[in-house]
Amino acid sequence: MSRPRVFVTRLIPDQGLKMIQEACHVDLWPEKTPPTRSDLLVHVRDIDGLLCLLTDVIDGEVMDVTGPRLKVISNHATGTDNINIPAATQRGIPIGNTPDVLTETTADFAFTLLMAAARRIIEARQVVYSGAWKTWDPLFMLGIDIHHATLGIIGFGRIGQAVARRAAGFEMSVLYYDPAIEQVAASSPPEAKKVDLDTLLAESDFVSIHTPLNKQTYHLFDADRLAKMKPSAILINTARGGIIDHVALYQSLKERHIAFAALDVTEPEPILPDSPLLSLDNILITPHIASASHATRQKMSLLAAKNLLAGLNGERLPHCVNPQVYDK
Ligand code: DGY
Repeated sequence: MSRPRVFVTRLIPDQGLKMIQEACHVDLWPEKTPPTRSDLLVHVRDIDGLLCLLTDVIDGEVMDVTGPRLKVISNHATGTDNINIPAATQRGIPIGNTPDVLTETTADFAFTLLMAAARRIIEARQVVYSGAWKTWDPLFMLGIDIHHATLGIIGFGRIGQAVARRAAGFEMSVLYYDPAIEQVAASSPPEAKKVDLDTLLAESDFVSIHTPLNKQTYHLFDADRLAKMKPSAILINTARGGIIDHVALYQSLKERHIAFAALDVTEPEPILPDSPLLSLDNILITPHIASASHATRQKMSLLAAKNLLAGLNGERLPHCVNPQVYDK
């Protein structure tokens, strides 16, 4: 029997890739950057399975060009906003993603950004390396305290709750906003208090975003919402860039309506070199690396491979974002 044909849109960590190569005929995109739209449309022709990244836009056209053999789309990410899910469901194609395995690593990074912003780590390093460090000074490089501050978490799913667990160690008060959650799971910190969005924005010293990007959350942080935050507040985003309106964020930071933003995700990615955000001194931007630890990326590749192989074998995916396909 011939092996299933799959397209893998970028080099992924070896454990997952090896698993796929042992079972499939693999067309592996060799470049460091994603396939262009036209490359993608050529390489997906007549494949049985697609393993894609969050940088690949997978819409109905891609699915149609691929043809009727396509049995599964496996995203090497938890977020699936790059894929048109209704289009896949309509065509009976299951979509896999990689939740759980990146929860703690992503929460670590959100907290890293929070701490770096609060204690001015990037500026402090620059001061040392530029020779501007002259003496110990009581008024030098003052930041804001993390301990006992109030942390507002937007989206209280796995990652939001993992961030709350870290906050408990700093004796922070934790508020959360998540219309999808009725009450916190038993494992979450008891101190976490569900509030409405306006209350969270008004009371939080730090606001950390952990919600998926969808129609409801697109530009959730617009000019009005940003204006409701404390002038001393720090905004952290490790979810998706599109949740914050960057034009409004620029105004808010420039006019010091909020104190600082620490973003691991931007809209678009990479951020454009002429983005006004890059001209500000009260922002820290990292290149979408919250899940980027050696161990976690291997686990993501393995889970993406398992989803892909399950789909090719006609089995239920270990993590499927559109399980309705199995009702048909
Ligand atoms: C995801 O998985 O959605 C992250 O953004 C990348 O790890």
